[in-house]
Formats: sequence, C-alpha cells, structure tokens
Amino acid sequence: MGWFQLAKVDLTTNFCNFDCPNPFLLAASPVARTADMIMRAFEMGWGGAISKSLALDQDLPDRSLTPRFSRLSANQYYFAGMGNIDFRIDQGVRETIEDWSRVKRKYPKHFFAVSIKSPGVEKNWRELASLAESTGADAIELCLSCPDDDSGDGNQSLGHNPDKVQEVIGWVQKETSLPILIKLTPSITNILPIGLAAQEAGAVGLSATNTIKSLTGVSLDNLVPEPVIGGRSWFNGLSGAALKPIAMRIIAELAQEEGLTLQLAGVGGVRDWRDAVEYLLYGATVVQVATEIMYRGYGIVEELIDGVEGFLLEKGFSRTKELVGLSLKNMLPTEQLSRKYRVAASFDPDKCIGCGRCYVSCRDGGYQAIDFDLKERKPVFREEDCHGCGLCTLVCPVQNCIVMKETKTPFPSGDNVEGGENHALRSCGYCG
Ligand SMILES: Cc1cc2nc3c(=O)[nH]c(=O)nc-3n(C[C@H](O)[C@H](O)[C@H](O)COP(=O)(O)O)c2cc1C
Repeated sequence: MGWFQLAKVDLTTNFCNFDCPNPFLLAASPVARTADMIMRAFEMGWGGAISKSLALDQDLPDRSLTPRFSRLSANQYYFAGMGNIDFRIDQGVRETIEDWSRVKRKYPKHFFAVSIKSPGVEKNWRELASLAESTGADAIELCLSCPDDDSGDGNQSLGHNPDKVQEVIGWVQKETSLPILIKLTPSITNILPIGLAAQEAGAVGLSATNTIKSLTGVSLDNLVPEPVIGGRSWFNGLSGAALKPIAMRIIAELAQEEGLTLQLAGVGGVRDWRDAVEYLLYGATVVQVATEIMYRGYGIVEELIDGVEGFLLEKGFSRTKELVGLSLKNMLPTEQLSRKYRVAASFDPDKCIGCGRCYVSCRDGGYQAIDFDLKERKPVFREEDCHGCGLCTLVCPVQNCIVMKETKTPFPSGDNVEGGENHALRSCGYCG
C-alpha cells in the first residue's frame, strides 16, 4: 500500500465539540497519570487523552496499596485481562492540577479531558469540577463507575441510579460549562436508563465502560484472592480483552436506542486495530485504551492508525466517521433471525492434522455427528446428523480446515440419542 493511497484516508473525528486528529484516546488510567506521560503519548500519535481520575482523597498521605494488579491469563503468553485494585494517583490534588495544566498549553490540537471521581457529595464534585476546568481541559469526564467504591452512596453506586447521575451532572454544571462525559459501569443489567438520564441532564457523551467488578483468581499457595496484599485481598476491577464483549455489547445497546443521541466512546479490551474498528462499527465515535498500553506501550498507536487506514482503503471508505454504527443494521433480535438458513460442517482432509478435537467436542459437547477413523486418523463428518452448531470450527486448531457450508440436507429430525461411540478417542490428540 503506497503513501499516496494512505493520504486519502481521513481519521479526524469530532468528539465533545472538539476536532481530534484521530479517534484513539488514552483511557482514564495509569497511562494518563502525568502530563509528561500524556504528552509523550501525543508525540507518538494518540489523538487525545482522558486523565486518570482526580479524587480529593489524593491529599491523604500513604494510601496506596501494594501490589495492586493481578493477571488473568489464558496461557503464559496471552494476557486475557488484568485485575486492578484501588489504583490512585500518588500525588496531591494541587500538584496534579498544576501538572496537567501543561498539557493543553503545549498540545492545543489534541483532545484532553480531565476525569473526576467522588462519592455522592456535592461539595466534592463542585470542587473537582472547577479544578478540572482550571487545567484548560476540553471536557470533563465524570467517573460514576469505580468498582472499588460501590457501597452506599459510593462512586459506582451513583452510576447505577439515573436520579443520582442527573444530580451529579447538575452539581458539576454549577461550576463549569465544559462538555461532560459520563464514564459508565459494565456492572449493570440495563444501561439505557442511565444513558438517557445523562442525556436529559445535558451530558454530551458516554464512555463505555469502566472495569467490571471481579475476582481474577486465588493464590493456591496461601488461598488468598489475588492480588495478595499483606495476606488479604478484595474484589477488583477487570480490564483488557476479557472485558471487550461486555463493553461492546453496551456500546451497541446505547447506539441502538433511538432516543439516545449522545456520542459514544468505546473502551474495554482494545488490543489492536480490529478491536477499534469493531467498536466504531457498533456505534462508537472514538475508542479509549488503557490495559494494552500498560502491556505494550504507547507505540501501539502506530498499529492502530495503520490498521484502520488500511481497512478503510480496502473497504472503499475514506473517513472513520463512515464506519460509525454500520454493523447495527445487521443485528436482529434472536427471534427474528432466519430459522430456514441451514449450514453443515465439512473438512479439508489435506489440512487436517488428525488431532480428533472436532470428534471429541462433537461427541461430548455437541450432537455426535462426527466419527473418527482411527486407522486414517481422520474425522468422518455425517452431514445428515449435523445440527450445524459450528462447535467443531471453533475447536479445530487448523485455520479454515473445518468450514460450515450452506446445505439443503434437512435438519436432523431428532437428537442422535445413542450418544456416539466412546472408544475411538478418550480426549483429543492435540491436547494430549
Ligand atoms: C489500573 C487502572 C486504573 C484505572 N483507573 C481509572 C480511573 O481512575 N477512572 C476511570 O474512569 N477509569 C479507570 N480505569 C478504567 C479504564 O479507563 C478503562 O475503562 C478500563 O480499563 C477498560 O479499558 P482497557 O481494557 O483498555 O483497559 C482504570 C483502569 C486500570 C487498568
């Protein structure tokens, strides 16, 4: 792909009444803790940043926990998610504000929002709002979703209650006319009343989502939940890849709601340009990133920019804006999906490595529609018994070896109740 082609693509995005150079923003988190960090990220190509949440209790000394992270691993190489517990800014409020005031002075063309966080105390929110405005920020993000503080009138509880959301927005509006973003929690069954309440109160956008309250694991040495902090622990906030399907579902639900016209920022598990494009396709205008930067550094923005530009060119688009919400029209409630469309599995014997994983999964988690030829070490697909669920394609370790093809063969009339033979393979040869 030549540079002359790339020049045709327009990544600029208007967000919160501000023209961002691109839709990639640092999320409120350690990656946007100090002005030097934020400005370094801008130099590397990030279009904007939401600061780590400013909280008045930063002025209390020696409050930070150590350690404060735990890791959710699918295996030793894949970082499926990260738990964090009460990560705070280890610096006083005034010093933090002075520090952040440098950002807009030096980078007027980059988007900068200050995030603020408090339990439901009017005085606190108003003080934080005027401090945030004094930095010269373009917008203020109200964190109403911190999983470390979800009891009583705690911060996350505010984000569960539409009346409280409106009350907090009202307090903040007494101090500032800056655009207001609301940072939403994923730990909620129905997000729509929260989004609609924020809109009615005058917010301009919603960032979905914060981390989800979770437990990443337990140390099997001392039986203490992780991260182990002086022999004890507590629930933590899960971020990263494992959060993405939940946050993306929330973005799509908000974007589908006809009465809701607020701008959306997709945040949760953006690891590469594909994730970013997916968020845009479900209705986000920008994406925010935290965990992947903590894992791989600010430099990932180059991959995000190149990847999205390449995707736009390949698909014949010229601006990221054109992608926003495009996939929503391809969603239909489960009951309205076609029950006539029918596929069945088949495989490519030349690609098959004979591991038997498809056979075992179909036998023990599917419809017993695959046999296994021990002599040839190959599966035998019985199309007439295949219910077309697609499990075999998910578990096959070889790309495009098993495919689901449209078929006219009638749907099997009943379950294969005999249950399949047990002798061919006990478990798949691939995992031993
Ligand atoms: C260590 C850490 C600290 C965070 N602190 C804040 C915060 O102060 N305010 C906030 O609104 N979100 C905070 N977040 C949540 C992130 O902004 C983001 O919503 C979440 O991590 C999901 O994005 P990710 O998967 O890209 O990390 C924090 C996340 C992490 C990992």
